[in-house]
Amino acid sequence: MKKKIILDCDPGIDDALAIALCCASDEIELRGLTVTHGNVPLSQTLDNALGLISFLGRDVEVYRGTTRPLIRKPIDASNVHGNNGLGGVRLPLHSRKPNSKRAVDFIIEEVMANPGEISLFGIGPLTNIALALRMEPMLASAVAEIVIMGGAIGEGNTTPAAEFNLYADPHAARVVFESGRLTTMFGLDVTHRALATAERLAPLKGMGNKVADLVLGFMESYQGFYADTYGWDSPAIHDMCTIAWAIDPSLFQTKRMRVEVDTNEGPNFGRSVGDSLLRSTDAALIDVAFDVDADRLFALFAARIARYRN
Ligand code: BDR
Ligand code: CA
Repeated sequence: MKKKIILDCDPGIDDALAIALCCASDEIELRGLTVTHGNVPLSQTLDNALGLISFLGRDVEVYRGTTRPLIRKPIDASNVHGNNGLGGVRLPLHSRKPNSKRAVDFIIEEVMANPGEISLFGIGPLTNIALALRMEPMLASAVAEIVIMGGAIGEGNTTPAAEFNLYADPHAARVVFESGRLTTMFGLDVTHRALATAERLAPLKGMGNKVADLVLGFMESYQGFYADTYGWDSPAIHDMCTIAWAIDPSLFQTKRMRVEVDTNEGPNFGRSVGDSLLRSTDAALIDVAFDVDADRLFALFAARIARYRN
């Protein structure tokens, strides 16, 4: 049976890879893209989502989400993704428009109309999902699962303690973690093990398909941040891990942990605190991904990208 997914995203280079993988995979029925502020402001993430769906030639509705986090001041990650959120890579002009329904309303209506069937995947700051959970108290029991790219049990990438998606809206993340429906977390502990090395990207070269060329263009511009920050010669494709897992969970190893989000403003603001000994009984009990067969993940990705025709 296909997994029915609403993908809440902030494209974002790695979001774009996740969307491309999603749209090429029959295991997934993408019910809609909801867009949030995040890597760059909402006006740009929304335009990127519309441009990507148009470029991929898919008929997927795109919904406008929130422009700001719940409480904290907005931040972005244009230092990683460039001012246009796509590393300066320009998509062709498109004429797609967002659906007139708000992202939060779409999430609520879609989940409540299909109880137990819809998976919510959050690969940006979790503001839209948190608002939907607050606006519809029955959402948590009607959603099949919530899966996120976000957090880090180890060191953060935006502060020493916090990963970007959680740091960009820690209060929203806390609502999601405390909803009882978060099942699986793909944090930096695993996504920093999924690096797009030259060998892993090699099958995309000469594929002669415009999506493969787009991905290669993204990777080229994205690599600078990882070289400057970590001294790595290959970038991490964070968000794409969640979709690869939806297609083939055997790619990942997970560990059941209790995890909570620190919302105290200070050095641990936005940190996901993990407890593998399950002591903190109030914290969310979730599967935390900590290892991946990255060669197999990229082989899957390349095989799916090869399905796009010019
Ligand atoms: C996460 O932050 C964003 O910059 C990426 O798109 C990803 O969702 C990684 O920390
Ligand atoms: Ca993202």
